[in-house]
Amino acid sequence: MTIDLEAVRGDTPGCVRTTHLNNAGCSFSPTPVVDSVIDYLRREATLGGYRLETAEQSAVLCYRGAGARLLDCSDTEVAFAPSATAAWWSALRAVVFAPGDRVLATTAEYSSNVFGLIQLQRQGVTVELIPSDLNGQVSVEALSEMMDERVKLVCVTHVPTEGGLVNPVIEVGRVLSNWPALYLLDACQSVGQLPVSVREIGCDFLAATGRKYLRAPRGTGLLYVRSGLTGLADPSLLDLRSASWVDAWRYELPETAWRFETFESSAANRVGLGVALTYACDLGMSAIADRIRSLSAELRVLLQETEGVQLRELDGPQSGLVTFAVDRHEPAHIRDALSSADITVSVVAPTHEPFDPSRRGGDGMVRASVHYFNTSAELHRLVEQVSQIVSG
Ligand SMILES: Cc1ncc(COP(=O)(O)O)c(C=O)c1O
Repeated sequence: MTIDLEAVRGDTPGCVRTTHLNNAGCSFSPTPVVDSVIDYLRREATLGGYRLETAEQSAVLCYRGAGARLLDCSDTEVAFAPSATAAWWSALRAVVFAPGDRVLATTAEYSSNVFGLIQLQRQGVTVELIPSDLNGQVSVEALSEMMDERVKLVCVTHVPTEGGLVNPVIEVGRVLSNWPALYLLDACQSVGQLPVSVREIGCDFLAATGRKYLRAPRGTGLLYVRSGLTGLADPSLLDLRSASWVDAWRYELPETAWRFETFESSAANRVGLGVALTYACDLGMSAIADRIRSLSAELRVLLQETEGVQLRELDGPQSGLVTFAVDRHEPAHIRDALSSADITVSVVAPTHEPFDPSRRGGDGMVRASVHYFNTSAELHRLVEQVSQIVSG
């Protein structure tokens, strides 16, 4: 299966007026997603939020089945989350730590995850970083050597925010299958970009966001929780969606991931999330990944050939996120100058990935992140504009 470029660009009206290369920040929702949200909101205005939600249960809850299809799991293992950070923290807070427990984490953890790790340290849990190899990938060998019975949790970021790195999450899962440790995967940048099978990876929890590679509305995300996990803490926030009241001082929780969902969230956005997940499944994750891979490889070559530009990527498997620096120009200046030419890129700051030992970014880098609806012509446009900035 290949991507029908004309069709996907036809579904993406923003492509007509602008070159969007910030899909790792926030992508464009395709028209079927936007229409589903607007249509739902219009109907809410005439029927009322509760009545419509009851009438449209299957559309509002579609993200569970579509999320299960995309992640290769059961729909009872998929919960709605308002963001990847919220999903990741729900998973972290579900792990019960005892004195002497260890937590291992990749050096690529996103800053909002790092805040959680700092909190764990304050509670007396030992948090250790797993060394990376020369390509920046987490060293599976080092991980194997660090493992023991006291490791309670291993946190891994699949595709970090700061460049093209893809971590070997299946190999990590193989190591962890020999140990009781729980495996928490931050798949914020990978879900919607690469095929992600939780069965193959073997993770216990996965956090994803809607607005990036999934092209879903803002304020949406997913939490995967493997069924059969025992000994988890109750979610720190419960309401009548996540829990049922049994008698005076007793409540019950479902065995499913749904105990992490709360009642109040935008039903329209949940409908949109379901449509976005279905859209990605229908295009096919392999076709999406192939196109992103070939476009980002082309962009790397173009940037490498451009005078005054330094590609800031390491070797190894590469994602759709491409980082670079430009001689004599601050990354923010490049971003703003490109924005004036209607090309959207972003800037990644060292604070986004506080543990990154490569520090290849210096004080920051320009990040161009491609999606399957981008074209080779758009990449040439970007590089031409950068060249013009360089030549002053
Ligand atoms: C790797 C990674 N993890 C987590 C996040 C946080 O995602 P959210 O803003 O949806 O919480 C980001 C956001 O850029 C990210 O790149």
